[in-house]
Amino acid sequence: MRFWRYLCCISKFEEQPEISVSKNKDYPWQIYSLKELLHATNNFHNDNKIGEGGFGSVYWGRTSKGVEIAVKRLKAMSPKAEMEFAVEVEILGRVRHENLLGLRGFYAGGDERLIVYDYMPNHSLTTHLHGQLAEDCLLDWPRRMSIVLGSAEGLAYLHHEANPHIIHRDIKASNVLLDNQFQAKVADFGFAKLIPDGVSHLTTKVKGTLGYLAPEYAMWGKVSESCDVYSFGILLLEIISAKKPLEKLPGGVKRDIVQWVTPYVQKGAFDCIADPRLKGDYEPDELKLAVMIAKRCTDHSPDNRPSMIEVVQWLKGGLRRKKEVGLVVGKDKEEDGDEEEAENDTDYEGYGIDEYDDKRKAWKGAQVR
Ligand SMILES: Nc1ncnc2c1ncn2[C@@H]1O[C@H](COP(=O)(O)OP(=O)(O)OP(=O)(O)O)[C@@H](O)[C@H]1O
Ligand SMILES: [Mg+2]
Repeated sequence: MRFWRYLCCISKFEEQPEISVSKNKDYPWQIYSLKELLHATNNFHNDNKIGEGGFGSVYWGRTSKGVEIAVKRLKAMSPKAEMEFAVEVEILGRVRHENLLGLRGFYAGGDERLIVYDYMPNHSLTTHLHGQLAEDCLLDWPRRMSIVLGSAEGLAYLHHEANPHIIHRDIKASNVLLDNQFQAKVADFGFAKLIPDGVSHLTTKVKGTLGYLAPEYAMWGKVSESCDVYSFGILLLEIISAKKPLEKLPGGVKRDIVQWVTPYVQKGAFDCIADPRLKGDYEPDELKLAVMIAKRCTDHSPDNRPSMIEVVQWLKGGLRRKKEVGLVVGKDKEEDGDEEEAENDTDYEGYGIDEYDDKRKAWKGAQVR
């Protein structure tokens, strides 16, 4: 593999002062010089710092050509971090999709490992749902649905189109970034694992973020695409409700977002699930559809979860007969022995793809007000 050879020869490109651009169309990134990135980020000045994650800090910068970039500076190079760096660059270098954060390049030399991404001016979903921009409520309903669809399409690409298939393993709000059009860009493939053809799941050390972890992954370290589907379901509930995936109740008991949402779904009280900041400004049918998809994605049993392709189809209105996919409001109730149909049962017959596509165009065109 070309990239691994690069890593093995790090000392060679340490000596290269100038930026070199990969000519291979499969690897359209460039190797930056440390000088260029120090200049772009004002020597990694604290004022340029966008945020900090488990593996290092992210800085805003501007290249000599005037392009805005985000530079992730990995923490001290432990063998673990070295592996993260290698995995991230290798994977990012090979995936290209409009809903995945593009890699611009990297620097590796001495103790420094720097990954250069496109800068996302509208930050992450976390900022809008729980952070500094939450009060501004820039995420109206159409924008939220557009972000949901974009993230689903990015994941569906990783699971089903990328070769070999890629499991992200850290789907969460801070890893969904927003470009200037509020289009979703799924970021951070550092945890991703390349899945060879014919392998249905791998058992591995648990990584990822509490609150988003599928039960079988958290308990037994079983990784499969359906772990990402579970995390996506949690993220979807978070986008709809602006609730955090895990909430600490008075008395210190923790409640996850699925436990929180379930009684409302059973009662058909969908309005109680929507983010109050939306002030009721959403399509009730779309709200129900989104919640029911999230419920399916967060099914305890991985076998009962849909694939991301199905999720995309449902979101696109492929959900013609709700019974076909088991999206029946009040289903949990029936399972508990209560036969009574929920009052708010929704008929999704009318959710044709054409109708959805018109909606999607509107969602995709949503601009900052
Ligand atoms: N390309 C980018 N453009 C704008 N903001 C970014 C970019 N990349 C990362 N960020 C932001 O920088 C912050 C730190 O990101 P980072 O990925 O290091 O940590 P994290 O996602 O919070 O946690 P984790 O380490 O578990 O991934 C986050 O708020 C993230 O949204
Ligand atoms: Mg991240």
